[in-house]
Amino acid sequence: MKRVFSGIQPSGNLTIGNYLGAMKNFVHLQHEADCLFCVVDLHAITVPQSPEALRQNSRNLAALYIAAGIDPEKATVFIQSHVTAHAELGWLLQCIAYYGELGRMTQFKDKSAQKDVVTAGLFTYPALMAADILLYQTNLVPVGEDQKQHLELTRDIAERFNHRFGDTFAIPDPYIPQVGGRIMSLENPAKKMSKSDESAGAYISMLDEPDVIRKKISRAVTDSDREVRYDLENKPAISNLMTIFGLFTEMSMDEVTQHFAGKGYGPFKKELAEAVVEGLAPVQKRYHELVASDEVDQVLRLGAQKAASMCESTLVAVKDKLGFLPQ
Ligand code: TYM
Repeated sequence: MKRVFSGIQPSGNLTIGNYLGAMKNFVHLQHEADCLFCVVDLHAITVPQSPEALRQNSRNLAALYIAAGIDPEKATVFIQSHVTAHAELGWLLQCIAYYGELGRMTQFKDKSAQKDVVTAGLFTYPALMAADILLYQTNLVPVGEDQKQHLELTRDIAERFNHRFGDTFAIPDPYIPQVGGRIMSLENPAKKMSKSDESAGAYISMLDEPDVIRKKISRAVTDSDREVRYDLENKPAISNLMTIFGLFTEMSMDEVTQHFAGKGYGPFKKELAEAVVEGLAPVQKRYHELVASDEVDQVLRLGAQKAASMCESTLVAVKDKLGFLPQ
């Protein structure tokens, strides 16, 4: 059975980009692989966080994983900081990763641009992400397209380590959906949909109320002419909305095109809004039940124990190979 690992940062409301690009695939992969899904709080503190908000966001994200359909009986759900091996291997891999390759990460360049303060952690972040993945002998990593470069670096670090110290890590493959790997902003189809966008109209949060979703979709930018046609080059805004519609309704782009032939943007946007509202409704309902119960806390306690025992032997092997004196 394949081993799958992925993580999401608990840094505020998740968007339907996170959902369609990553979380939906987590749910689907849990039936065919041995999966670990992590709330990566150590990654979140690479930028300033309010401690109280971080605590809440971490628990809420775990609730959202389960609400979206991750079954804790099937997959291991846990908080990154509860398993100290992540921070430990993260440091060790910082000493395998090169300064130059970390400096080439486009996400670091984007996130550090025009910032007064950039932490060292933001720079070394991909080494911690490599540790998350490599600790569990992971074969597949379901992520959106923006994480592809980090996955390539993870593979390079693993290969470098294996080459220098002997076979230690499995080499992981990215699992990036062909459709939905990069959901774009509703206000600017040249920009990725992001929970950190300064304009809330650019994204739909997984927890947005139905009327908020309707309003955001009705205001979403469109392209010239009135035809609902999938054409990434000439109609990037409509193609993005069609992608969202197709993923929520499980329709192919051809089916979506046929469905809206001759209908124009108005009816398309109305149906799209209802598809998103309906798709998110059960997730939102379950989420609100979960955050009010102690089910999540139990899942996280057990998840941390399971994850810690799953990664122990790899960390021991790494330390031994590096030449650390055993205790
Ligand atoms: P994060 O928290 O930024 O995003 C979580 C997941 O959502 C995907 N995603 C998108 N997919 C499609 N369209 C979008 N607009 C969109 N926005 C975000 C991301 O690609 C990601 O899969 N570094 C990671 C977290 C991480 C991780 C890991 C992932 C830490 N360790 C180990 C995998 C394995 C991140 O910041 O994701």
